[in-house]
Amino acid sequence: MIIRNIRPADYPSIIAVLDDWWGGRKMSDMLPRLFFVHFQETSLIAEQDSRIAGFLVGFLSQTFENEAYIHFVGVHPDHRTQGVGRRLYERFFKIVRKNGCDLVRCVTAPINKGSIAFHTSMGFRAEPQGTQMDGIPFYPDYDGSGEHRVLFVKHIGDQSASIQT
Ligand SMILES: CC(C)(COP(=O)(O)OP(=O)(O)OC[C@H]1O[C@@H](n2cnc3c(N)ncnc32)[C@H](O)[C@@H]1OP(=O)(O)O)[C@@H](O)C(=O)NCCC(=O)NCCS
Repeated sequence: MIIRNIRPADYPSIIAVLDDWWGGRKMSDMLPRLFFVHFQETSLIAEQDSRIAGFLVGFLSQTFENEAYIHFVGVHPDHRTQGVGRRLYERFFKIVRKNGCDLVRCVTAPINKGSIAFHTSMGFRAEPQGTQMDGIPFYPDYDGSGEHRVLFVKHIGDQSASIQT
């Protein structure tokens, strides 16, 4: 399996499977082509035998210079729990460390138990909120009415050390 940067030409293949990979949830509206055009340096494809096994779309914060954000990660159902998501995240951490980041954020829906388990295993912490679901704090209506989100954060280490790697 190789990990490479995303390209605009990947958009049709990913958008065609996105909702299926999310168990039928309507996700495609949240991933317009612009991410495949303007965030190539921090967005990745995992490819096996020239087929897409997973992808990550992320970017460097323009507002907080030490922060990066992962907008989407998805792994083909046949390739799950084999370390593809971990490899995509670790490559992303390496890229953003080189750009001076020491903190990564992402959000997920409180109903997405697989995502919560994955992010917890990856060392992310759910930021404390006044509201919880099944013991996981979430921010109500974060992305609009009824669109609750768990706000995950992970510190990825010392910037000066990682710039040398
Ligand atoms: C979430 C997702 C990206 C995880 O990818 P993956 O390649 O299966 O994850 P990995 O195999 O790299 O797992 C990394 C760690 O997370 C854990 N993990 C992953 N999915 C898990 C699940 N559903 N339940 C429990 N633990 C899980 C693994 O056990 C592993 O832990 P370990 O390293 O401590 O042993 C994948 O399940 C997916 O695409 N889900 C649908 C899309 C989605 O919900 N994306 C996230 C929101 S944007």
